[in-house]
Order: sequence, then structure tokens, then C-alpha cells
Amino acid sequence: MNSKKQYALVTGATSGIGYGLAKLLAKDGYNLVIVSRDKKMAELKAAEFEKAYKIKVITIVKDLFNHQAPFELYDEIKSQGIKINVLVNNAGQGQYGEFTNTDLKREIEIIQLNIISLVALTKLFLKEMIKRGEGKILNVGSIAGKIPGPYQSVYHGTKAFVNSFTEAIRSEVKDSGVTITVLLLGATETDFFNKADMLNAKNVQDSKLADPAIVAKDGYEALMKDDDKVISGFKNKMQVAMGNILPDDVVADKVRKQQAPKDKATK
Ligand SMILES: NC(=O)c1ccc[n+]([C@@H]2O[C@H](COP(=O)([O-])OP(=O)(O)OC[C@H]3O[C@@H](n4cnc5c(N)ncnc54)[C@H](OP(=O)(O)O)[C@@H]3O)[C@@H](O)[C@H]2O)c1
Repeated sequence: MNSKKQYALVTGATSGIGYGLAKLLAKDGYNLVIVSRDKKMAELKAAEFEKAYKIKVITIVKDLFNHQAPFELYDEIKSQGIKINVLVNNAGQGQYGEFTNTDLKREIEIIQLNIISLVALTKLFLKEMIKRGEGKILNVGSIAGKIPGPYQSVYHGTKAFVNSFTEAIRSEVKDSGVTITVLLLGATETDFFNKADMLNAKNVQDSKLADPAIVAKDGYEALMKDDDKVISGFKNKMQVAMGNILPDDVVADKVRKQQAPKDKATK
């Protein structure tokens, strides 16, 4: 692939799925702009990618929980004269617990990260891509967005937004030369559940979590093929199909049992 002079921006590239996606882009010769809150970790990953794939990597430390962060990120990239050819909106977090007990401030930050930062970055970079008539965007959604998620109600809601938003703007920009893809994954072995305080949930303890490198590969291939979406993994495809057939209240009760704390009896 002739991507030597092209840049890909990946939010949350230091860990999990974002790391896997950044690695695949680097392998294909894309220069990278990688974003996370942890400067040391970002520099470590940048050095790793530069050495292994002989590409250029720019690190930008940004906390996308902050309202201004996506605008600052865009301005910093512009001020360095960099054109973004591929945008990967990957950074995202969840919070585990019953909605009446969880911390509202954290949930508002999650909405900021998973929805508002994603919308802002998409608009800012999409407008430039449209003007140029080229570009690719990958939004990391989730199968969580296809099913109501007791014990993770806000998180599932944010991912429903990402899934729907991506399909809608994809349709709007059809024939512009820009493509937008959404990656829907299920429970995957990353630091996500630790950050979400979810290690004690039944589904995390009892099910085999997906390999983030395989999930990233599925997302990357869909992005490169200009697909509208990909559901990574057979089990997840089945879960989405069941969710489409069963009534929402039945699905919500089923997911409540799956996501309950391991030590809690559920009816
Ligand atoms: N793992 C799963 O089971 C699963 C399932 C469905 C969907 N997903 C989605 O997959 C995406 C990637 O998550 P992951 O599973 O790979 O989790 P992860 O291993 O925790 O990686 C998250 C990445 O995002 C960055 N990040 C987190 N909060 C941030 C913030 N406020 N500002 C900037 N960067 C931030 C992290 O770096 P720092 O912490 O250093 O900032 C890290 O690089 C998320 O959108 C998640 O919702 C995950």
C-alpha cells in the first residue's frame, strides 16, 4: 500500500484495540498521530512503532474527558501542518454498576469521551476530507450499542449513539470519496473492564474474552474495504441477531443476568 506520506490519527493508541489498529496502520506504512492521557506510555509506543515500521509517529497527550480537548487536538495537528487521511475514533470507557449508585460526574465524562469528543473530531476532520475528496474514518462502536445494558446503562447508550451516528453520516457523504466504518466488538481482553470497575461481572469472569489483535484486524480490514460496519466474532454476530429478534425488555433482562456481579443472585 502506498501510504508513506499519509497520516492516521488514532485516539487511545497506547492499549487494547487502539494499539492493535495503530500497529496495523503502521505496518501498512502510515505515519501516525497517537493520542492518550499517558505521556510516557504514548512515547514508548511511538518509539516501538517507529523502530519496527520505519514510520513517523507524533504523540499528543490529551484527556478527551475534557470539553476543549478535541478542539485543542485538531489545532495542534493543524499547527504542525499535518493532513489526516485516516481518523480512528477509538478511545472510550465504560462504568460498571447500578445506575442509581454510579458516579454521575464520571458518567458525564464518559458521555464526553465516547460521544462528544468523537462527534467533534469526526466533524473537524471530515470537513477537510470532503474538501479533498478522500479520507477514511473508523469509529469504534460496540455490540453494546445494539442491546440495552443493565449495569452499564450509560455505556451501552453511548455506543448506540456511535453505531447510529456512523451509519447516518456515512450515508450523507456517500460518493464524496470519504468512507466511514463502525467496528462492533464484544467483550475483549483489554484494560477496559479494569477501568470500568467491571472485573467482578459474570460475563467478564465466565466468558472467553476476544483477542484485541484479532478484533483490531477485523476493524482494519472493514475500514480498508470501505464497509459500513463489521461485527467482530461469530458469537457477537449471533448476539446482535438475537437482539434484533427479541423484544427489548426481554433482551435487557437477559443482559442484566449476564452482566450481574458474580456474587449476586439475579432473578
Ligand atoms: N474491551 C472490550 O470488551 C470492548 C468491547 C466493546 C467496545 N470496546 C471499545 O473499544 C475501544 C477501546 O477500548 P479498549 O478495550 O482497547 O480499552 P483500553 O485497553 O482501556 O484502551 C483505551 C485507550 O483509550 C485511551 N483513553 C482512555 N480514556 C481516555 C481519555 N479520557 N482521553 C484520551 N484517551 C483515553 C487509553 O489511554 P490512557 O488511559 O493512557 O488515556 C487507551 O489508549 C473503546 O471505545 C471501548 O468502548 C471495548
